[in-house]
Amino acid sequence: MELKIPKHIAIIMDGNGRWAKNKGKIRLEGHRAGAANLERILEESIKLGVKYLTVYAFSTENWKRPEMEVKGLMELFSGFLSSKKKTMKKQGIKLLVTGSKEGVSDSLLKKIEETEKYLENENNIVFNIAFNYGGRKEITDAINKILADEKREPGKPVTEEEVAKYMYRPDIPDPELVIRTSGEFRISNFLLWEIAYSEFYITDKYWPDFDEKELEKAILSFNKRDRRY
Ligand code: FPP
Repeated sequence: MELKIPKHIAIIMDGNGRWAKNKGKIRLEGHRAGAANLERILEESIKLGVKYLTVYAFSTENWKRPEMEVKGLMELFSGFLSSKKKTMKKQGIKLLVTGSKEGVSDSLLKKIEETEKYLENENNIVFNIAFNYGGRKEITDAINKILADEKREPGKPVTEEEVAKYMYRPDIPDPELVIRTSGEFRISNFLLWEIAYSEFYITDKYWPDFDEKELEKAILSFNKRDRRY
């Protein structure tokens, strides 16, 4: 039987901290290893023919982490954009960064915008980084945009299709498969609207250890599901 490759895979990259702790390293080392692993999984996703890969890099709740860790994550993300943009172009990666701008420094916002522009015409895969992202915030933002639309008839009931149109990325199809590493059975405010019918795959592996073989296992498990909606 031919393997069905999900068109859109979304990943909660959890366990960097525990990975580092187990190795007697600081948490930031875990995030660095996580960023390196992301490159590996991105490359493998292209090889497999995945068309959209969404990863949860920083949530709206992550600001509450110790200042040093937040700073480290911002620098890691910024460094990732600068150092990988040329490679991403060669690989045909269209980059999107999805989330709120609130609290993000002007210099990082500028870098995000420039990198997205640099890669806007690539079409091997859409690599969507959820950064300063919160699912509830996305839905709340959608409601506020609907309310602010002056062309809308006041008091007209809102439909599901209309809400979907006001999500951050209305052109990206909903994920068929959501993967969470490090064994937690939680959604942590990730893509609340978009995962209504997604299949879930949870593994005990920490994110830096989630390699190509593990991705294959997740896809095999997805293939065994009977998707009924
Ligand atoms: C969760 O692990 C992971 C994060 C909050 C950050 C994810 C970031 C990366 C994988 C690297 C940076 C991303 C890019 C795009 C360069 P955790 O810290 O909650 O781990 P723990 O639960 O074991 O403490």
